[in-house]
Amino acid sequence: MLTYSKLDTVTAIYKRRAVRSYTPEKLERATIKHLLDAAVQAPTALHAEPWAFVVIQDKVRLRRYSDRAKTLLLDQQQAISHLQSAEPQALAMLSNPDFNIFYDASALIVVCCKAKGPFVEADCWLAAENLMLAATAEGLGTCCIGFAVGILNMPDVKAELGIPEGGAAVAPIIVGFPREIASSGSRKPPVVLRWVP
Ligand SMILES: Cc1cc2nc3c(=O)[nH]c(=O)nc-3n(C[C@H](O)[C@H](O)[C@H](O)COP(=O)(O)O)c2cc1C
Repeated sequence: MLTYSKLDTVTAIYKRRAVRSYTPEKLERATIKHLLDAAVQAPTALHAEPWAFVVIQDKVRLRRYSDRAKTLLLDQQQAISHLQSAEPQALAMLSNPDFNIFYDASALIVVCCKAKGPFVEADCWLAAENLMLAATAEGLGTCCIGFAVGILNMPDVKAELGIPEGGAAVAPIIVGFPREIASSGSRKPPVVLRWVP
């Protein structure tokens, strides 16, 4: 059992930032297990606990998924480019053969759902946030990788990763030891549409 005293919750919330540069150091299984245990403490509609997890620590496999993801995203982008203008920065990154959508992080944890349902995605993302905050409290870096959702839901990849046919990869999160302290993020103040006292 790991200790919980490293950061209080609010400090972890403010300290968590997307980390996109990692050392090659591999995460211990016990550390990953600790993050998964924190993830499943998330609120869950109807107490369904619809989540399941895939952990990938094989860098060769991650690179293969990254390359396939880039091709898929560029193809999709081409297909819709007549409808909307592409994000030029994203296109440049995806076209760069050296760009790894997983930023060479030593682990990818995919929060998956075992079956589809009205609140399943919400539950999975809440679990993902728990996981990221627990990682922050441990001094680890994380980043959601939306770029990976498409490839992780291709039938052959789902089968390879044991994701049930009726389920899905919902929230891919990279985790690793950050190379540098992530700069503090800025947020606009909350927009309150109406406050009825
Ligand atoms: C659903 C989702 C998908 C994201 N996908 C990516 C991604 O594919 N690649 C990436 O570098 N960052 C990704 N991010 C990270 C966001 O860019 C980042 O959270 C945002 O810029 C705010 O920065 P912060 O997390 O440091 O506060 C994603 C975030 C979310 C919530």
